[in-house]
Amino acid sequence: MDRRRLLHAIPRLAQLALAATGLAALGFAPAQAQGTYPTRTITVVVPFAAGGPTDTVARLVAESMSRDLGQTVVVENVGGAGGTLGAARVAQARPDGQTLLLHHIGMATAPTLYRRLSYDAVGAFAPIGLVTEVPMTVIARKDLPAKDLKELAALIRKETTGINYANAGIGAASHLCGLLLQKAVDAPMTTVPYRGTGPAMTDLISGTVDVMCDQTTNTTEQIRAGAVKVFAVTTPERLPSMPDVPTAAEAGLPGMEVTIWHGLYAPKGTDAAILERLSKALQTALRDPKVSQRFADLGTTPVAQERATPAAHASFWQADIAKWKPVIEAAGQYAD
Ligand code: MLT
Repeated sequence: MDRRRLLHAIPRLAQLALAATGLAALGFAPAQAQGTYPTRTITVVVPFAAGGPTDTVARLVAESMSRDLGQTVVVENVGGAGGTLGAARVAQARPDGQTLLLHHIGMATAPTLYRRLSYDAVGAFAPIGLVTEVPMTVIARKDLPAKDLKELAALIRKETTGINYANAGIGAASHLCGLLLQKAVDAPMTTVPYRGTGPAMTDLISGTVDVMCDQTTNTTEQIRAGAVKVFAVTTPERLPSMPDVPTAAEAGLPGMEVTIWHGLYAPKGTDAAILERLSKALQTALRDPKVSQRFADLGTTPVAQERATPAAHASFWQADIAKWKPVIEAAGQYAD
């Protein structure tokens, strides 16, 4: 990426991020909701690689939903292009409740960031419900010569583009958070894109890449194991799951606040009764003690039941698209 263009874009994107966080189907006839739905295995597409934060959330929820639905729910990883390849798969699937998408905040940024998609980034989907809200952490390979966030900032400034940061592609949570970090330190890093932060974490642990800003669902266990170095959480308050880790503001970079959300979607045209059935199964999963305990352990909590509905998630999603649109447009930095 052109460094001058990146640096120019960072402040705008960061402003957008701060503001935002402070921050058809293809002609298939909709399936009729049958009292017996579902009668076959359901596939939940995760638009990132296996082993990452979206995958972790999807597998936990899918397992619990499958018990409620009385059918197998499998997770299929279709990573690449910041989540748009997996989203395209579901946009083009039959709207029969058999193929779903579990995606994150990228559903709100892609409609503006990606101007030449093969699918309608908003109109191709029917929301089922919000799933989680997840904090992020600024982490690094464990031998990076910086002991806290201020020293990391100094190192990034000193090395100019010599420090690289792993992320899951343009519009991915890790990409947006990396932009925030660069804005906060007012210096660029070199971006290293992956199909998801699961494989990026492997490279961070082995020391192939330097820095990552990723969701606690992917970083908590590696931080506890000492496999990576942690500098800060991106929440206004410290997290009960890692009370010794300062907030970015406490660590010297105020304004680095961002929380990622995940939602569940079906292709547009899916029968409303099927969406309702899936929403009920999602709500049951979110109340499942096994799910909530694991979420708590990974620094996140399932959302309240009333947010895990088609109507509530439709308005939340639309509002988030509206928040990100002007930020991305002002930055003028698009994925194409
Ligand atoms: C992201 O950065 O958007 C996520 O970490 C992607 C993933 O789940 O791998």
